[in-house]
Amino acid sequence: MSKVTGSGLRRIIDERLLFWALLALPAAVLIALKLGPGLKLNYLYWTGVLSCWLLILAMAVTPLQMLFGPLPWLRVRRRYLGVAAFGYGVLHLVVWVLGKSVADFLNSFVRAEVLPGWIGLAIMLVLAAISFDGAVRRLGPRWKAIQRWVYPAAVLTLVHWVMTTGNMTTVVLSSAPLAALSLWRLGRGGGRLRRG
Ligand code: HEM
Repeated sequence: MSKVTGSGLRRIIDERLLFWALLALPAAVLIALKLGPGLKLNYLYWTGVLSCWLLILAMAVTPLQMLFGPLPWLRVRRRYLGVAAFGYGVLHLVVWVLGKSVADFLNSFVRAEVLPGWIGLAIMLVLAAISFDGAVRRLGPRWKAIQRWVYPAAVLTLVHWVMTTGNMTTVVLSSAPLAALSLWRLGRGGGRLRRG
């Protein structure tokens, strides 16, 4: 009986659609609140922060594997985290664009605090576009090299976040774990993943 329950639970945890549903849930809630009761909420803030958190999580997978050994469940889902980070970035852009004039839109490309956001999102678009299995197979070793563009994308979005925020505590608390993991990784000279 407990065996059946255990394997049932395992199947639920491994269900990729469920993982996608979890990633999409905050977006669904934000959209429902905006379109439904029209609740006053800082939608620009929450879509931006969710995008940053997902990007941070995706980037933490490799150093976490170096620390704890192979984490196959998380490794398989790293691409989904990256695509979801891009999705929330797009939602953030949509929220911002709504109600903006063409002049505001064009002006955003010369605003020092917004331009890094644009470039970061453009890089994330390329990475998300080649995230499906067919592209991974077709690009071969080049796929990994292209994925390294996630680092400049992360730095640019961090610059954008720092320059637009009025609350540095959230920026520091959100970024500190990945910064610590990255410093530790650099300290051991990059290095290979630990075998289980
Ligand atoms: C695509 C181009 C982008 C535009 C036009 C844009 C625009 C903006 C603007 C105008 C703000 C300031 C909001 C305010 O004054 O309250 C802002 C804040 C923010 N953006 Fe972006 N953004 C872009 C891309 C991104 C991306 C890709 C990310 C994350 C990966 C991001 C994350 C954030 C965060 C976290 C904040 C909130 C800062 C805070 O109040 O703490 N943005 N964005």
